[in-house]
Amino acid sequence: MSGQNHLLSQAVDSEDIGHNTSNNPTFEQILEARISRRGLLKGSFALMATSMFGMGLTACSDGDSPSTTPPATPGLTLSFNAVAKSVADALTVPTGYTATVLLATGDPINTSAPRYKNDGTDTDFDNRSGDHHDGMHYFGMNTTGTAHDYSNSSRGLLCLNHEVAEDLGFMHANGPTDYGSANTNARPTAEIDKEVAAHGVSVVEVVKSGSTYQVNRYSNYNRRITGATMMDISGPAAYDDLMVTAYSTSGSQTRGTINNCAHGYTPWGTYLTCEENWAGYFYRRNDTTRTAKENTSLNRYGVNGSSSGRYNWSRTTTTGLDTTAGGVYARWNAGITGTTAASDYRNVANTFGWVVEIDPFDIGSTPRKRTALGRFGHEGAWPAKAVPGKPIVFYMGDDARNEYIYKFVSDALWDAADANGGMFAGDKYMDAGKLYVAKFNADGTGTWILLNMSNPTVANYATYTFADEADVVINARLAADAVGATKMDRPEWGAVNPLNGEVYMTLTNNVSSSGRGSNAVPLDAANPRYYADTKGTATNKGNVNGHIIRWKEAGNDHAATTFTWDIYLFGAESSATTDVNLSNLTADNDFSSPDGLWFSHAVPGLLWVQTDDGYYTDTTNCMMLAAIPGTIGDGSSVTINNQSVPSGQTSITTRMGKVATTTTLRRFLVGPKDCEITGIAESPDGKAIFVNIQHPGENSTSATNPAQFTSHWPDGGTARPRSATVVITRNDGGKIAV
Ligand code: FEO
Ligand code: CA
Ligand code: CA
Repeated sequence: MSGQNHLLSQAVDSEDIGHNTSNNPTFEQILEARISRRGLLKGSFALMATSMFGMGLTACSDGDSPSTTPPATPGLTLSFNAVAKSVADALTVPTGYTATVLLATGDPINTSAPRYKNDGTDTDFDNRSGDHHDGMHYFGMNTTGTAHDYSNSSRGLLCLNHEVAEDLGFMHANGPTDYGSANTNARPTAEIDKEVAAHGVSVVEVVKSGSTYQVNRYSNYNRRITGATMMDISGPAAYDDLMVTAYSTSGSQTRGTINNCAHGYTPWGTYLTCEENWAGYFYRRNDTTRTAKENTSLNRYGVNGSSSGRYNWSRTTTTGLDTTAGGVYARWNAGITGTTAASDYRNVANTFGWVVEIDPFDIGSTPRKRTALGRFGHEGAWPAKAVPGKPIVFYMGDDARNEYIYKFVSDALWDAADANGGMFAGDKYMDAGKLYVAKFNADGTGTWILLNMSNPTVANYATYTFADEADVVINARLAADAVGATKMDRPEWGAVNPLNGEVYMTLTNNVSSSGRGSNAVPLDAANPRYYADTKGTATNKGNVNGHIIRWKEAGNDHAATTFTWDIYLFGAESSATTDVNLSNLTADNDFSSPDGLWFSHAVPGLLWVQTDDGYYTDTTNCMMLAAIPGTIGDGSSVTINNQSVPSGQTSITTRMGKVATTTTLRRFLVGPKDCEITGIAESPDGKAIFVNIQHPGENSTSATNPAQFTSHWPDGGTARPRSATVVITRNDGGKIAV
C-alpha cells in the first residue's frame, strides 16, 4: 500500500500507517445502505428510526431493562480544576498534583548498565528501559516478593511496552545511518542491535517511596523482552506450515516482539503485549516468485514488495543482505532466498501481528504468541470481568484506517482456582476459542460474526481460499473482509466499564487517502462524520478528530453474539460547528484523536481518555482527560450534516450518548511538545497513576542539534527528548481525580 511509508505520515501521526483496501463492504451492501438512507430521509421511516434510537436501551437490549442496570457512577465527582490547553514543552497536571519521572528511555533497569548519558553513545538496551513507552499495567506483589497480591500498592511489577525506536535516531550519537524503508545500503550492526533491543517490553519492580514510586533496580524480576527474545507460538497457528522459518522449522517458535502498542492483562496475573505496526519492518525487494495466495496475504497486511523495512534491519555492514539460514538479521528479510520455507524467512511476517503473553512473575518463562486471538495490527486486548463458569473474553481493535473490531471468547470456562495460573492458565484460556468480528448496524444493533471454517462465508471466500483454522487466524483480516465486517475509523484502545460491563473503544480518526466517505468506504452510523478542518495552511478532511463508540452485549453476557451500541463521545475543537462538536465540548474538555482508554479499578466508573493527535496540535499538545460516562442510551438520536462528502452522504443519523459537561469530562493533563499520551496504570489504592509520555520532540528536524529539537523533555536544557513513565500523585495523598 502506498500509505506504508511511515516517514511520509510522520508529521501528522507516525502510527497512522496504511489502511484497509479490501472491497468489503460489497457493492450490494452499499446499495442496501443507500436505499435505507433514502428511506431515512423520507418521512415515516425516519420517524420510526428516530423513535427507536430514542428508546435507547430498552429498544434493543434483549430484555435487559434499565432498572436492572446499575447506575454508572454512584456518587462520583471530579475534584480537580481543568488543565488548560497548552503548546508549552512541559507536562502540566492540575494544581495540587505532582508528576515525577519514574523510568525514561535508556534508564538502567538493573545494576548492570551505567546511567544513561543520552548523547547517543549509550549501549546495552537489554539492561535499560526501551523506547517509546506505550501500554502498561501494574501487578501488585506480596510483601515477601514471591507472588501476586493484587491489592498491594506499596510494591508491584510494572510491565510496559516499548513500541518503536525513535525514528529520528536520538539513541545514536550522530543520528541513524542508512536508515529507512527506501534505503538500500548496509547499516552498522551496532545501530541495528540497539534499535531491536529498544523495542519490546520492560518488566520492572516499583516500590512506594515517600509520596511517589521508584524502580527497584535490585529486583530479580526486572527484565527486558525485546525484538530478539525467543518466543513460543501457541494456538491454532502453532506448527502450521505458514509459520515455518529457518529459526523454527517446526513453526513453533519465532524471535522477538515488535511494535508493542497497547496491552492487556489476564485474570490469571499475566501481561499481554500487542503487536501493531509490525508489517512495515520487513525487507521485500525482488521477491517476485510468491504464489497468488501469498501475495494476497502479504498485500492485505501491507508487507510491502518494494521496502527495505522501516529500519532496514536485514542488511548490515558485516553481513550484507543477510540470507543466512539462522541469521539474526536475515529474519527481517521476508523474501524467498532459500529452497524451502525451512531454509529462509519467507514466512517470518506470519510470526508477527499477535497478542503475546508474558508472565512477569516467572522471569524464566518464554513469552507466547497466542494465535487464537487472530493476526492483525493489534492495538491491545482488553478483558471483560472474569466470571466463574463463563468464558474469558477479550476485546481487540485493529488500528489502521477502515479496519475492524474483534473479540475472542475462550472455550474454557473460568475457574477462579486459576487466578495465579501463569502461562499454564494462558494455555487453557487463550489457545482455544472463538474469534469474532463486529458488524455495527444502522439501527443501533450489532452482530459478532464468527471467523472460522464452520462459517461458510469464510470457508467459501472467493478472494482467498482458506486452508484451515490456522490459515483463518493468520489471515484474520481476510476472514473479516469475507463476512462484511464494519470498517471503522482506526480502532485504538478498548475498556470495559466495571460497573455495568459496557465496552468502550476509541476510534482515533480517519482522514486523507483511506477512502472514508467515498463510494468504496461510505460513512455509516458507527462512523458517521466527514468534515474539513484546517491546521495552519493544511486542510484535513474526514473524521478528523475521532470518536469513542461503546456497546453493551445482549443479556450483559460478554459471550453474546449480538449487542447494542451508541457513540459515547465525539472529539472536536470547541470552536467547531455543532455538526462537528456534537458532544458540546468546551475549552475545559475539548480534544482530538482519542487513543488510550482505561476504566479505573480503584475508582469504579472513572474513565481516562488519552490522545495521540496531529490535527489540533497547533492549539494544544496531546492530553489526558478524566471522564464519568453514563450508560448506553442516555443520549439521543442525532442527524449529522456532513460537509462535501465524496459519496454524497450529507446526512447521517446515528445514536449518541448524553453530551459532555465539565462535570462529566475534564482535562487532567497536557503533555510536552510533539508527544503522545499513551499507557496508564494505577496503584490499587487509586492514589497514584502511572502515565506514559511517548515521543516528545518527534517533529524535531535533527537528532543531534539541540537548536532543532522541538522538545527537551524530560531532562530540560539542551537534552535530547526521551519517552518516559511518570507517576502522578495528589499532594494531599488522596485518590486521583475524585
Ligand atoms: Fe500504537 Fe494504535 O497506536
Ligand atoms: Ca483545526
Ligand atoms: Ca495507540
